[in-house]
Amino acid sequence: MENFLNWIEKRLPVMNAYKKHLSEYPMPKNFNFWYLFGSLAMLVLVNQLLTGIWLTMSYNPSAEGAFASVEYIMRDVEYGWLLRYMHSTGASAFFVVIYLHMFRGLIYGSYQKPRELLWLFGMLIFLALMAEAFMGYLLPWGQMSYWGAQVIISLFGAIPVIGDDLTLWIRGDFVLSGATLNRFFALHVVALPIVILLLVVLHILALHEVGSNNPDGIETKLPKGAKGEGYETQFAFHKYYTKKYDIIDAVPFHPYGTVKDLIGVAGFGILFAYVIFFNPEMGGYFLEPPNFEAANPIKTPDHIAPVWYFTPFYAILRAVPDKLTGVVLMGLSIAVLFLLPWLDRCKVRSYRYRSKLHLANIVQFVISFIALGVLGTLPATSLYTLLAQIFSFGYFMFFVLLFVYSKNEATKPLPERVNY
Ligand code: HEM
Repeated sequence: MENFLNWIEKRLPVMNAYKKHLSEYPMPKNFNFWYLFGSLAMLVLVNQLLTGIWLTMSYNPSAEGAFASVEYIMRDVEYGWLLRYMHSTGASAFFVVIYLHMFRGLIYGSYQKPRELLWLFGMLIFLALMAEAFMGYLLPWGQMSYWGAQVIISLFGAIPVIGDDLTLWIRGDFVLSGATLNRFFALHVVALPIVILLLVVLHILALHEVGSNNPDGIETKLPKGAKGEGYETQFAFHKYYTKKYDIIDAVPFHPYGTVKDLIGVAGFGILFAYVIFFNPEMGGYFLEPPNFEAANPIKTPDHIAPVWYFTPFYAILRAVPDKLTGVVLMGLSIAVLFLLPWLDRCKVRSYRYRSKLHLANIVQFVISFIALGVLGTLPATSLYTLLAQIFSFGYFMFFVLLFVYSKNEATKPLPERVNY
């Protein structure tokens, strides 16, 4: 067996890669709760891929058959209900996990130099994930699938000159039809999953090149000799890194990280199972009531709103009376996140050692984002529109203020070594 493994290793160093990227990856000792969500995102991704493959086996991607095939999966396919609830709950769980994962990056400054590219790959994943969720939502061909897609696709019509041609090109028809369903199906089950998987690999490679940040936001992987003699011997386990770096205050990912992440998996599993078995519609937020009715192109539902994870951006869109300006602002609200590494000019990463102003700014950003999320689910009355305008202002002001105060921010002294 050993000879066989050595034979393989000489031709394709899999054990080397396993040790470098998994078992012996140096994990900062002070990782906390907020560092559970990267591995959970991977878990949910695997869940979506597997349940998605099995759903595809019984799903019929046509305007005539889609709705009925989902009912067939729910009633007649063995454990079809379980597969579907795992997939629909998984979609919402993905966004819960990703929003918490991004929030961690925000409070600990994980997007700052040298992790800008890691953040950019993360943002590309976020975009691809939104496209994946949007296209998947059309597939059951219910009322909300149909009218939700109708509203979002028609937004492209607001773009000057090319708008009308662009919407026609996206739909593949003059109205939203089976042609649209077919292409969304192809993109949802083949193209986007490949893109997402590829981006996740690049995300992890970019992370492992520079090393993990941590709650104190100080480096644990330093250029060789930066800390003087003696540091590498503590981490002799790590021959991949210690040749080039001094690694301090880190432990090998296995068993420390694996055990920590398993606790996250157990906690997540309990919540996930609760939703699937006791509350799969989650009060109409995970599966919306109008979607239990088949798509009807001549009957508009009373109130059209996207699924909860899109509502903060949808509220920004609706906050502006002019359609084109609304579309531009919604696009900007996502684009500005890409720029975060360059908008934050502070040398200190973690909020722990930054100013009270920075903390207050983060708090107001989170309040604005959640408030926008709630407002996006409600009908656009004049009061709610005014509130959406106020919170949209709060959302954008986070970035403007950050850019202004971060240059000369009054920060606290950083610790020599991490706290844990
Ligand atoms: C499918 C989606 C994603 C997966 C599977 C994923 C996976 C991971 C994993 C496994 C880690 C290392 C463990 C950890 O720090 O929790 C990580 C770190 C990181 N991710 Fe993601 N990620 C995803 C999406 C995103 C998104 C959308 C962003 C932000 C735009 C992002 C930003 C980061 C950052 C900044 C780090 C480094 C954090 C640090 O070291 O402090 N990720 N990711």
